[in-house]
Amino acid sequence: MESTKSSTSVRASLWIKKPLALLMRESSGDGNELKRTLKAGNLVALGIGAIIGAGLFVRTAAAAADHAGPSVTISFIVAALGCALAGLCYAEFASMIPIAGSAYTYSYATMGEFMAWIIGWDLVLEYALGAATVSIAWSEYLNKLLEKFGLDIPYQFCHSPFQTSLDGVTGIINLPALFILLALSLLLIKGIQESASVNSIIVVVKVAIVLLFIALGWSYINPINHTPYIPENITGKFGDFGWSGIISGAGVVFFAFIGFDAVSTAAQESVNPKRDMPIGILVSLAICTVLYILFSHVLTGVANYKEFGTVGKEASVAYAIETYMSSYSWLSVLITVAILAGFSSVILVMLLGQSRVFFTMSKDGLVPKVFSELHPKFRTPYKSNLLFFVFVGAFAAFVPGDVVGDMTSIGTLFAFVLVCIGILILRRTNPEAVRPFRTPLVPVVPILGALICLAMIYGLGAENWIRLLVWMIIGLVIYFAYSRKHSKLRNS
Ligand code: ALA
Repeated sequence: MESTKSSTSVRASLWIKKPLALLMRESSGDGNELKRTLKAGNLVALGIGAIIGAGLFVRTAAAAADHAGPSVTISFIVAALGCALAGLCYAEFASMIPIAGSAYTYSYATMGEFMAWIIGWDLVLEYALGAATVSIAWSEYLNKLLEKFGLDIPYQFCHSPFQTSLDGVTGIINLPALFILLALSLLLIKGIQESASVNSIIVVVKVAIVLLFIALGWSYINPINHTPYIPENITGKFGDFGWSGIISGAGVVFFAFIGFDAVSTAAQESVNPKRDMPIGILVSLAICTVLYILFSHVLTGVANYKEFGTVGKEASVAYAIETYMSSYSWLSVLITVAILAGFSSVILVMLLGQSRVFFTMSKDGLVPKVFSELHPKFRTPYKSNLLFFVFVGAFAAFVPGDVVGDMTSIGTLFAFVLVCIGILILRRTNPEAVRPFRTPLVPVVPILGALICLAMIYGLGAENWIRLLVWMIIGLVIYFAYSRKHSKLRNS
């Protein structure tokens, strides 16, 4: 009898939920809150800033070469569909619970503390490792740019110890990746308004370059490169072209969509979160999807997808321009510069999202107080920014980009699945709560969203499932050793 009672209370405390009313009260201020300065336009810019990056400029060509050929455009549609469905769920949550913390906060209110911890811990994969991945891509493109001016950073100082060059040089540390992370962490510490303005400029440049490539490249499309549009699967292996290749390609280009949900983490800094959060999430996602489909259609039309596995493997966009659009070779320098700027804005939003999630988790007592201490003058969580610079920097400096990239994707997809399920739960448990934005066609949208994301998780393969599992086990140890004891909600 006794033991039944105590196991019931452990269960209850594991699933303890943060009441919506308490969440709202907390967001309306205890003197330690973040400044509210972002409007709908800033949020859309923040979204596009987070979305267009290494995924478009690096993974599109890889997905075409290895899995989908020209039909990588269809892969983009599949990935976008999963994101849009999950995005509709995010938008309902973000408009209902307009405070910092993203999926973490939503799950605390809906699925309880234990699930909230799992999702918060999982989001580290998305934001922190996402920032590390893009900073590694930044380092590669910086080298490409320097090469054009006859300069270069020695291989060992811009690669991880797990990488070896074709001439047998082994990497030591990735210094450019560390540099860009430090610069952007310092920018974040200075303040969100400044950061959002810098981000808006970068977004304009980035979108302009994508449009320019589409417009100029369109007349260079060679129809032979698009024939057949869906290359045949000859080996019979899953993911080796054909329709299964389109699904595997979707898993690869999914990375290009990661980040639109980062908009929701800025809810506490948004002037009118109820109206603007759904706009920020959905509009930025829609704009990027159209750009991606057009961009990949042109890219695989200008050069043949097979070249992206060989001579055009690195900096594929610059390769396609230099080889097939020679009268526009000046464009490849411009594109490389824009890509560097674009990557910077992606890293910025990822670092911002990470520090904001831990800010909220720290206020809840689940991670130490240091993550929510604000700078006396700038009112930003500066210690958290610095600690995450060290954590993200360690991955960026010493781990190869494809490993952290895949971990980012699987972590994000897992969070998306949980958010979709969260909407189903919340509609049952809090049917009467005010919802400024309602996910349409519930339960179809959340169920389909979860299924498409699960299919992409499947496509990422066993190695990545294991990495996710190990990360989650580390998280569980921390939860039971620290967070449960320090949880403010459980101790109140
Ligand atoms: N979506 C971001 C990118 O493509 C993560 O770099």
